[in-house]
Amino acid sequence: MLRLNLDDFPTARRVTYLNSASISLMPQPAIDRMIEFQGKIASGGTIGFDEQAETQALEDARSEAASLLGADREEVAVLSSASEGICSFAWSVDLKSDANVVSTDADFPSVVYPWIRLSQERGIKVRLAKNHDGLVDEDELEKLVDDQTAVISISHVEYGTGQRFDLRWLSELAHSHGALLIVDATQSAGLMPIDVHRDGIDALVAAGYKGLLGPFGAAIFYLRRELVERLTPAFVGWRSTATPFELDAAEFTLASDARKFEYSTMNYVSPVGLAKSMRYLREVGYENVTDHVLSLTEKFIGMTRNNRRLSEATLLTPEDENFHASIASFRFKGRDQSAVATELVKRGVIVSQRFNGVRFSFHAYNMEQDLLRANQALEETLVK
Ligand SMILES: Cc1ncc(COP(=O)(O)O)c(C=O)c1O
Repeated sequence: MLRLNLDDFPTARRVTYLNSASISLMPQPAIDRMIEFQGKIASGGTIGFDEQAETQALEDARSEAASLLGADREEVAVLSSASEGICSFAWSVDLKSDANVVSTDADFPSVVYPWIRLSQERGIKVRLAKNHDGLVDEDELEKLVDDQTAVISISHVEYGTGQRFDLRWLSELAHSHGALLIVDATQSAGLMPIDVHRDGIDALVAAGYKGLLGPFGAAIFYLRRELVERLTPAFVGWRSTATPFELDAAEFTLASDARKFEYSTMNYVSPVGLAKSMRYLREVGYENVTDHVLSLTEKFIGMTRNNRRLSEATLLTPEDENFHASIASFRFKGRDQSAVATELVKRGVIVSQRFNGVRFSFHAYNMEQDLLRANQALEETLVK
């Protein structure tokens, strides 16, 4: 049972906010914490923000991420974005020119582009499983993986359709061919269960501003312990070392843990806000959040399909609920999808147009009332 104080999300009371897959609403205690933290630094500089405070700014987010993912703290770096994490991984893995990397053409560009860039540099091949109306067939994906595959790079939950892949299946597929699995969990972290050790994940990234209810500018990056030891980061800077505040340009010893993938000053208010949001979610209960969003997804799909006035709606999300997460996407026959999304927004139902469809995405602050309002607004929009 999900218990959450809606007063912590004033916007969710005012409008029907079904856009957490784009930018989530942050809980008010996390917003307050960010304002206080940033205000103190902006007006006081180093007064009240010393080296210890600077180190500590990332530690709460690191601990929350480790606890969420079932990882050890030494396996977690706190970076600025998910794209940064995938690039960092891609350029740290030693790829031979005859290697290939497997992904899908329905994936978020940042999951694929770093490998395309590497293919230009090192001649590796990038193999993309083709989507059919947004969906990727697991058998087709499996056929692309062979003993030359070095990496499978894929989202846990696809941003356009909400298709969710089985992480265990992906890691077994990768490992049976000696490949590594990097998962982009931006659309699932905080929403769907992930246990990096149990699921056999080698590397994982998640931006903070979606399922984790955090701000822009902070993302979590997990790397399996053995890879932390084996990989050398492509980018390094003053914070990559074991003793960053010694600032000794002549002494370069990388940190022995995943902190070696952190390299520069960052917008520290972001990890501070992210840590507070993750703590908030942990207190609500991650399992409760999963049950809640899955139930909203099923109800919304059922409601929309059973509504005879919405017969123009084609579901882009998989039919099988085992592949669902917190996203339901529809394509409205003969309609400009962008115009439908814009019309819904005008009616106070905040959604996004993605993948030539309209994407509805749910989080802990959404209630059944939101589903009814969205359905009503859809009827009004499509009747026009
Ligand atoms: C799956 C996925 N990965 C990554 C991103 C972007 O992450 P970032 O801006 O932190 O690089 C998005 C944003 O929509 C996304 O959906």
